[in-house]
Amino acid sequence: MNLMGWILAVALVFGTSNVKISSAGPFHAQCKVEWYFSVPCKQVFESLVTQIKKWRTMSSCAMGGQKCLYKLQASASHFIAAKHTTPFKKSVDDITFRLVSSLLSSHCHVSAMSVSENWYAIKDHGTNYCNLYNLMEGSGLTDAPGYKEITSDFLCTQRSSANCTVY
Ligand SMILES: *[C@@H]1O[C@H](CO)[C@@H](O)[C@H](O)[C@H]1NC(C)=O
Repeated sequence: MNLMGWILAVALVFGTSNVKISSAGPFHAQCKVEWYFSVPCKQVFESLVTQIKKWRTMSSCAMGGQKCLYKLQASASHFIAAKHTTPFKKSVDDITFRLVSSLLSSHCHVSAMSVSENWYAIKDHGTNYCNLYNLMEGSGLTDAPGYKEITSDFLCTQRSSANCTVY
């Protein structure tokens, strides 16, 4: 659905009720993060793809959390698409990573996005942020040289209250 389509649809659903939408974040449950690394994109790409495959099955969520049920959809040197399903609610989020090598080919900039497929999802307890962050942390990239993250509550639903151990 396009932007106006879902704004209209949400207005129709909530227009006659008393539901107040007070969060300051994106109107739809989603998250956009920019990451920077002083390592080549090839290394970032391989780390992310390996981690997505490692967390394919439910077994990696045996102790709870959301570090499971990732599914690689497509990958091609500077692009990764995957889906993440939450273990119990079974809601599905679409994830993409776009990798851009800097002029210094030893540096990589990653634009990451996670969006809930449910068009009516507004709050997500930070799940869309954690979908992305957990892969970064799990693959060890949060400890990579030059690691820098840029995001905000404006770009990511409930980012500042996210607990990625749980969500
Ligand atoms: C996140 O949740 C876990 C499990 O409930 C808890 O142990 C931990 O303290 C929480 N972390 C933060 C930062 O709230």
